[in-house]
Amino acid sequence: MEIEVIKFDNLGRGIGYINNKIIFISKTVPGDIVDVQITKDKKNYYEGKLNKIIKPSSLRKNIICPYFNECGGCDFLSISISEILDYKINMINELLTKNKIDYQVKKIIKSKENYNYRNKITLKIEDGIVGFYQNDTHHLIEINYCYLANKEINNILKDIKVLNIKNGTITIRCNYKNEILLDIKTEDKLDNIDVLVSKYKIIGIVVNDKCIYGDNYFIEKLDNFLFKVSYNAFFQVNPFICKEIFKLIKKNTNNSLNVLDLYCGVGTLSIVASTNAKKVVGVELIINAIKDANFNKNLNKQNNLEFICADTKDILNKIINDYDTIILDPPRSGVPSKVLNKIIDENINKIIYISCNPHTLVRDLNLIKDSYKIDEFIILDMFPNTHHLESFVILERK
Ligand SMILES: C[S@@+](CC[C@H](N)C(=O)[O-])C[C@H]1O[C@@H](n2cnc3c(N)ncnc32)[C@H](O)[C@@H]1O
Repeated sequence: MEIEVIKFDNLGRGIGYINNKIIFISKTVPGDIVDVQITKDKKNYYEGKLNKIIKPSSLRKNIICPYFNECGGCDFLSISISEILDYKINMINELLTKNKIDYQVKKIIKSKENYNYRNKITLKIEDGIVGFYQNDTHHLIEINYCYLANKEINNILKDIKVLNIKNGTITIRCNYKNEILLDIKTEDKLDNIDVLVSKYKIIGIVVNDKCIYGDNYFIEKLDNFLFKVSYNAFFQVNPFICKEIFKLIKKNTNNSLNVLDLYCGVGTLSIVASTNAKKVVGVELIINAIKDANFNKNLNKQNNLEFICADTKDILNKIINDYDTIILDPPRSGVPSKVLNKIIDENINKIIYISCNPHTLVRDLNLIKDSYKIDEFIILDMFPNTHHLESFVILERK
């Protein structure tokens, strides 16, 4: 079926119409005329799979990745970075307008690198094939190279099959020294570990949460900060943009402030804030991340800092007093309304909300918009060549 793609939706898919009913087609670009196979026929919309580009959009550029059309790993390699940045600003502004939030974003901070920026990728392994799932399916596409992953991850990716894993997943992480940490989930026995270890700077291999070689963590360095990162702890995937977040945290803290960093992970932002603030308390659910955070406190010689292992929504009532600023950097699901309502009740002056999911971010901004006004909203291009983005929002008490 022939479709003209009109615009992108807010998940980066092309939108067209079949008799006034909307159709979403991944990997298409506004201006494309495409041949599409309908894969879902719902009451209010269709989803389609791109069969063939009949007439390409003038927005298209050469796609450097041979896997792009099939692979679900990324979605915007077919258009220029400036088009992607415009898309990201427009998408956020549409969401804000739709939710009657009185602010329009103008500023986007670019990533210093648009390719080979990721310090971590997770691949599936099925019947010995290593790769990413195809868009919207569980059909595995074999890959030997990923343009988003950093160069050392790509080097080891070419050799990963020597381990002879038949089924499972493998997460490859790489730090500033090109040291590699492997986190593998599989029922299979690993072969040839010595072959990989002799060729790459492998700092640790963890299989089903058990360390079978080296350490179960590595040390990451960003600016002058050092961070212990356990194999299963969260760490920002784009080091270039992570440094930009550090700059923004520093700009928004000073030595008269008590700061509460909810969802603090291994203490990354707490530690950066503590170099400026009077006192910082970080809260994190995962015990291993809190252990890393305490290690990182000592590693960075910061004393005005304390970490608590708890679920934010359970602990907030007990600890929320005397804070001037709250940092919120939640998972994709956003911040529970119970937490936001408590922050409103406590009259906290300033919220720094960092988010990787614009949809839950805007939902949460909507909930607090009568009490907090947006002072600054900056988009950070944390995930170049994809529709994903990071938001950094400063909110002031009204
Ligand atoms: C997006 S990460 C941010 C981590 C940190 N701010 C950083 O920049 O590295 C979100 C963190 O929230 C933690 N988390 C998830 N749910 C939580 C909860 N209910 N209470 C506290 N922490 C939680 C996750 O384990 C993860 O470390």
